[in-house]
Amino acid sequence: MHFQWYPGHMTKAKRQMQEDIKLIDLVIELADARIPVSSRNPDIDELGKQKARLILMNKADLASQEQTAAWMSYFREKGFFVVKLDARTKTGMKNIQEAILEACREKIERDRRRGIRNRPVRAMVVGIPNVGKSTFINTYAGRACAKTGNKPGVTKGKQWIRLNKNVELLDTPGILWPKFEDQRVGLYLALIGSIKDEILNIDELSLELIRILQEKYPNVLKERYQAEESQAPAEILGDIARSRNCVKKGNELDYSKAAALLIDEFRSGRLGKITLEFPEEQS
Ligand code: G4P
Repeated sequence: MHFQWYPGHMTKAKRQMQEDIKLIDLVIELADARIPVSSRNPDIDELGKQKARLILMNKADLASQEQTAAWMSYFREKGFFVVKLDARTKTGMKNIQEAILEACREKIERDRRRGIRNRPVRAMVVGIPNVGKSTFINTYAGRACAKTGNKPGVTKGKQWIRLNKNVELLDTPGILWPKFEDQRVGLYLALIGSIKDEILNIDELSLELIRILQEKYPNVLKERYQAEESQAPAEILGDIARSRNCVKKGNELDYSKAAALLIDEFRSGRLGKITLEFPEEQS
C-alpha cells in the first residue's frame, strides 16, 4: 500500500492516533530492519509517551543479522523493548508474547495489587505504510482469532482482537507518516520500495544503492555481477548491464534496465541481507 502524504492526511492520522492511544496500554511499533530510523516517525515517542513501548524490527529476513543485533541494542539502550521479526511467519510469536508481558509488567502488577485479574493488556500496532502492519496482524491475530466485539462505553465501537488470554489488539493499525523532510529518509524509503516507483528516478536510485554497497558491502557487486567495484557508480551500473545482458537496439547498454534489475534484486533479498542504515552513524 503506497501513500501520498499531505498535511491534511497527517493531521487526521495524528488525531486518530491520539484517540486510539487513550484506549491502550502498549504501543507495538513496526520498523523496517533495513532502515530502523528512517522507517520510524519520532512523533510516536511524544504520542505514546505514557505507554509501554515495543519495537518490532520487521523484515529482519532481508536485513544484515549483525546490524539487526546492533540496532536492537541501540533501541534497548533508549528504553524500548525490541524483537526482530519476519511478520510473514509465526516463528517470532513466543518472543513477542514474552516481550509484551515484560513491557507491561508494571501495569500487570498494578492490576494484581488492586485485585484486578485477567484483564488483558491492550495494544495497538503502528507504523509507516508498507512496513508490514497488516501482515503482522494477520499472522499473529488473523483468521484464527475471534474478534471480541464492541465494548460499549469503553471502546466506543472499536474492534478488539483477542490474541490470547493476556493480550488484546486494536484491529486497525495506526498509520504513521514518514519524515520526508530529510532527504536521506526519502532516499532510503525509496530504496526499500515504500514510495511509488512512478515518482522516482530509478537510475539515480540505483547509483545511490551502488554507492552504499561499495562502501558497506564490498564484494557483493563483484560476486553477483562481476562488477569492478573500484569504478564510479555509473560504470559499475554498466558492468551490471553487461553481466545481465541489458542491451538496447544497436547493442547499446540499457542502463535503466540494469538499474531496475539491481533495485529489484535488492528489494527481494536476492542481493543478500542488506541493512542501509547503521547505528554507529546516528548522532
Ligand atoms: P502495511 O500494512 O504496514 O502497509 O504493510 P503490509 O502488511 O501490507 O506489508 C507490505 C509488504 O511487505 C507485503 O508484501 C508483505 O508481504 C511484506 N512483508 C511484511 N512483513 C514482511 C517481512 O517480515 N519480511 C518480508 N520479506 N516481507 C514482509 P506484498 O503484499 O508483496 O506487497 P508488495 O511487496 O507488492 O509491496
